[in-house]
Amino acid sequence: MEISTTASTATVDDARLAEILENPGFGQHFTDHMFTVEWTPDAGWHAARIEPYGPLTLDPATSVLHYAQEIFEGMKAYRHEDGSIWSFRPEENAGRMVRSSHRLALPVLEVPDFIQAVDELVKVDQRWVPDAAGEKSLYLRPFMFGSEAFLGVRPSQHVTFMVIASPAGAYFKGGIKPVSLWLTEEYTRAGRGGMGAAKTGGNYASSLVAQQEASAHGCDQVVFLDGQEGKYVEELGGMNMYFVYDDGHIVTPEVGTILEGITRSSIIELAGKLGHQVEERKFSIDEWRDGVTSGRITEIFACGTAAVVTPVGSLKWAGGEVPCASEGGEVTTQVRQALVDIQYGRAEDTFGWMHRIV
Ligand code: PLP
Ligand code: COI
Repeated sequence: MEISTTASTATVDDARLAEILENPGFGQHFTDHMFTVEWTPDAGWHAARIEPYGPLTLDPATSVLHYAQEIFEGMKAYRHEDGSIWSFRPEENAGRMVRSSHRLALPVLEVPDFIQAVDELVKVDQRWVPDAAGEKSLYLRPFMFGSEAFLGVRPSQHVTFMVIASPAGAYFKGGIKPVSLWLTEEYTRAGRGGMGAAKTGGNYASSLVAQQEASAHGCDQVVFLDGQEGKYVEELGGMNMYFVYDDGHIVTPEVGTILEGITRSSIIELAGKLGHQVEERKFSIDEWRDGVTSGRITEIFACGTAAVVTPVGSLKWAGGEVPCASEGGEVTTQVRQALVDIQYGRAEDTFGWMHRIV
């Protein structure tokens, strides 16, 4: 893919950048540039460009605004001790975006083009990648949307793919402490044949009211159960889940209607290497309640690109509560450490997961 670059003449100055990188928060500040490429049936992908970050002008009839034909990815660029910059398994994000495009009737952006787009933006905005201290990173948000101005309900004949980037610290305010969960029994995020496995904005739109319910009950995050039987644990609004047993084996809900998290699949491999047997299977809410009560479940954690690996505390629902599985979180800490050590280049990358950008 040929990419033209127009450098910004209004880049954030060094003093302000240092201030932002000191305490970036999550998703609040954006780099100096953005990547865009457009698609039409006749021309295919064309007009790839990096240009100054700024607002888009959209016709009010733009299809994504009406029918939500949109998909996105979430990944990070990490700076290593020696100053080099790396992404983590970018071909997995690119591959998942291909699967999401099939589900949302969007055109396929080939894996190498996706990776090139991300890499080129990171290269141009490399001063925005925080240094390794404090486990900060540059969060990357590739996304694709129907950009044709047309109100008929059919796949958009003009599609835009973009990448924006935002320096990131901890996703949760207060750093690594257990998140409390609310079990929603009213709302589900996915059904059979639905979009649960696709990373599409609609799934997040539908999760917001459940997240509001969680907040109203004093909980940090919401847990969704399967839509058919209301019995099996699926995932959180933006994270996959893991349950650790007292004999060291670990269970994670099987894929199907959940997002196939790249952190999730990496942890399956990492935990195996650390000597844990990992089961991917249906996991019922009763197993959760009973396992914590009996002490057989010793730790619960959630994982995702933004949240990394986060211990899970208590679980509340309309009729009751189960406490935090354990305060110690030895396996959670071990898995988290093994993962971030690879991402920040402090441990040997035996899986070949890291991709050098700069
Ligand atoms: N589940 C949902 C609904 C998510 O939004 C995310 C975040 O991307 C995940 C799981 C974790 O996926 P990954 O590890 O690829 O970031
Ligand atoms: C991610 O972890 O990348 C996510 O997309 C979760 C959330 C920010 C939507």
